Amino acid sequence: MVSTHAVNEKGHLVLGGIDSLELAKTYGTPLFVYDLALIRERARAFINTFKEQNVPAQVAYASKAFSSVAMYQVMKQENLSLDVVSSGELYTAIKAGFPVDRIHFHGNNKSKEELLLAMEHNIGCIVVDNFYEIELLKQLTAEHNQKVNILLRVTPGVEAHTHDYITTGQQDSKFGFDLMNGQADLAFSQVYEDDYIQLLGLHCHIGSQIFETIGFKVAAEKLIKKMIEWHHDYDFECTVLNLGGGFGIKYTKEDTPLEPSVYVKEMIMVVKSLIAETNFAMPEIWIEPGRSLVGDAGTSLYTIGSEKEVPDVRNYLAVDGGMSDNIRPALYGALYDAVIANKVGEKADITYTIAGKCCESGDKLIEHIELPKAEPGDILAMFCTGAYGYAMASNYNRLARPAVVFVENGKHQLAVRRETLEDIVHLDLPLSMEKE
Ligand code: LLP
Repeated sequence: MVSTHAVNEKGHLVLGGIDSLELAKTYGTPLFVYDLALIRERARAFINTFKEQNVPAQVAYASKAFSSVAMYQVMKQENLSLDVVSSGELYTAIKAGFPVDRIHFHGNNKSKEELLLAMEHNIGCIVVDNFYEIELLKQLTAEHNQKVNILLRVTPGVEAHTHDYITTGQQDSKFGFDLMNGQADLAFSQVYEDDYIQLLGLHCHIGSQIFETIGFKVAAEKLIKKMIEWHHDYDFECTVLNLGGGFGIKYTKEDTPLEPSVYVKEMIMVVKSLIAETNFAMPEIWIEPGRSLVGDAGTSLYTIGSEKEVPDVRNYLAVDGGMSDNIRPALYGALYDAVIANKVGEKADITYTIAGKCCESGDKLIEHIELPKAEPGDILAMFCTGAYGYAMASNYNRLARPAVVFVENGKHQLAVRRETLEDIVHLDLPLSMEKE
């Protein structure tokens, strides 16, 4: 449970000031509930830390974590920037009225059409990933006589996951230009003097669900070293240093993330001290948190249905969603915590496995969890599902994707409506070819 969760006198879980049982009744289940208060708190913590340190910055929401018109509008209210990775996310941002000059476009295989859409809307920055993209951009900008701002995405040979970071000479990644083997230098030489391409600086993203600051610091050092080299050799003025996202959150009690401000402060310290050794102006620092903005603000509500006891092995408790709305446990072995929302105060003395309803044995949301005795109709609340849950949802088994609701201080609204059976078939066309 996070700070905005509570339990009311009925023993019901309260999300954003609203009884979760009421939310389940009003909007149905499975349901994603986002508490906006927590998202705003996180956004402000990131932004204010940069302000307090007097460092020019952009905090871009990595919207792959959860993309919708209303969520983009929340991020706009909080003065964040936006990281998009496809024409779909870009189009959603445009529909949301997101300020285009604060949109950054990522991706390792942007199509011509996607780049043209980005150019048509004059977005703030394209994060260029590979040589093919440089070629496409040169061609498109010249054809349209239009300038674009870019960052070069580089792989600094730093990889971080949770408590670990490793530095490797040659990083095996499908993203970006290798900083060590000369690819980044070649990319630089191809864009630096281009008439239409304006190189603002460098970008890297070292991993996800990171609990330590060391990886960010090592990456920043490597990027700044390259900046200094290009300044020395070509007089290049780097104005932006984008250090990506990846700040960890607390899925279970074993997770020990740092406060957002801690990651930011440490990054700033390293950049400041390295820049102080040069005669450069402090570059803007951009970051791209996804999970840490929306992850623990999201809770999934499910209705409990069937139960199956496998004597001496386990008790399966099935819910009305599953890997179709949260593939992370099946895909990554991701761990989550949950409660029965209408029995929060009761003694949790039965070990269950929470199963989804997809036709797949691996469709388990939680392998082992202690809960009070569950009955059909109870509501299971699974915490911390706000990042890469709905965003990675599918219609596997033709299950309808859930609704998404926003709550905040006692108010609530539908942000994404539930798919209907009609939605399920709306792209299908009838057979029109004759039988052979
Ligand atoms: N910036 C870039 C360039 C990224 O590739 C990512 C995530 C982020 C920022 C945001 O990272 P975050 O702060 O959310 O960790 N589906 C996986 C996560 C994939 C992350 C992909 N890139 C999961 O469910 O854990």
